[in-house]
Amino acid sequence: MGEAEVSGRQLPRHIAIIMDGNGRWAKQRRLPRTAGHQAGVKRAREIIEECGRLGVEILTLYVFSTENWRRPPEEVSFLMGLLEDSLLDEVEKMHRRGARVRFLGLREGLSPQLVAKMRAAEEKTAGNNGLNVNLAINYGGRAELVEALRKAGEAHGEILKTGFDESLVEKYLDTAGQPDPDLVIRTSGEQRISNFLLWQIAYAELYFTPVLWPDFDRTELTKAIAEYRRRRRRFGGVESVASKENK
Ligand code: IPE
Ligand code: IPE
Ligand code: MG
Repeated sequence: MGEAEVSGRQLPRHIAIIMDGNGRWAKQRRLPRTAGHQAGVKRAREIIEECGRLGVEILTLYVFSTENWRRPPEEVSFLMGLLEDSLLDEVEKMHRRGARVRFLGLREGLSPQLVAKMRAAEEKTAGNNGLNVNLAINYGGRAELVEALRKAGEAHGEILKTGFDESLVEKYLDTAGQPDPDLVIRTSGEQRISNFLLWQIAYAELYFTPVLWPDFDRTELTKAIAEYRRRRRRFGGVESVASKENK
């Protein structure tokens, strides 16, 4: 498909990706799982660049879930080391393209060195107004909601009984102020959400592909966006603004 067809109003404003299948990609090649994670980082870089080029507003990448701590300790420490080692480099590349980086998830449980790099990345890119990149690290949708409800209760305890509403919950989510994902992509053939952005994906279009994350290139992204453009979003009504846009 031509470039013009994936740009402009038909483009999802917010794309969220569950980057799955690194381990299976490595296994297919008789490589250790760690090689799959390294290949996965390269793909993430390519997809970040491509989203910036296309003019997507927000890209959220699921990097490490609150459940991923259940993996063997060697794999967890490899992943944490990979993050720590690659973060500064990747952030520098994103910064040069004007991208703004934010992190979703709990900082508790992460190493102080990693947390320091995350904070530095947010500060460094805070003034940029290109692509917004959310990296979900030690993130779980349920943990995020519990935290949001706790903070809302603390700050607005008195109105919990009378004026509690959706906007008050949203205000305390890690994605506060951002539009919800329009398109959620999951690679590797699994068709589940695995505790990703539970609140925010209420009306997202879901796209599942058997392609393993280290093989998910620009062309695959274009396919996902093309599929999104064929969907008719109704948001519970009969015809939506998005549907009209898609005509
Ligand atoms: C995704 O790939 C990366 C993380 C969850 C950190 P996996 O490591 O889950 O790869 P598979 O699912 O075992 O193939
Ligand atoms: C989801 O992948 C988490 C990330 C991509 C970071 P998993 O591989 O952990 O998901 P499950 O365990 O197959 O649901
Ligand atoms: Mg997996």
